[in-house]
Amino acid sequence: VRVKSAEFIKSSVNVAQCPPPRFPEFAVIGRSNVGKSSLINMLTGRSSLAMVSKTPGKTRCINHFLINGAWYLVDLPGYGYARTSKGNVVEWNRFTREYFTERETLVTVLLLVDASIPPMALDISCAAWFAEAEVPFTVVFTKLDKRKKGGPPAEENIAAFEAQVEEACGYAPPTILTSSKSGKGRNELLAHVAQLREF
Ligand code: GTP
Ligand code: MG
Repeated sequence: VRVKSAEFIKSSVNVAQCPPPRFPEFAVIGRSNVGKSSLINMLTGRSSLAMVSKTPGKTRCINHFLINGAWYLVDLPGYGYARTSKGNVVEWNRFTREYFTERETLVTVLLLVDASIPPMALDISCAAWFAEAEVPFTVVFTKLDKRKKGGPPAEENIAAFEAQVEEACGYAPPTILTSSKSGKGRNELLAHVAQLREF
């Protein structure tokens, strides 16, 4: 699957500001620091299209990138950065929630999950929220190249996450394994997007 062009279109702070809904779009979401911006750079083959940072919460807007002049890849602010008294309940930025429920051209959400750590309740509750809201989503595991010292191997974290997400959602969403460092999963994810765009 080739990415011939990738163009930053605009940053929006709400759905009304987003570019006209003319192309199918795929939104990248996940906890702060999970690797959303890095994945966008890896998929598009541009080293600095999306901003990558060591400071969590760097991406604060809804950023539209037009791919091959035909579909949008959308970078969203990470969740779980703002402290909430509600603990593990996923709390969206108001406009992010509005984006998921109101953006008519949204095809599928790519929910990024760090494969180098055991499942986090926040990520599971996010998946459950999509299932409940009937927003289609694919789980994209990130950082497959990374192994936390003394931590379980990625395969173990992934298997545990898949079991918990199926339990929470009542069905098993599609999953894809990636690494923005090595490029693992790039073709598979782009083929997945191409297939979903057919509908
Ligand atoms: P926010 O915009 O703050 O929500 O973060 P983000 O989800 O966009 O994460 P970002 O792409 O900025 O990456 C966060 C950190 O994780 C950076 O230090 C990246 O270099 C690192 N990182 C991202 N992807 C990978 C990966 O596949 N492997 C490894 N080892 N590190 C990664
Ligand atoms: Mg980011």
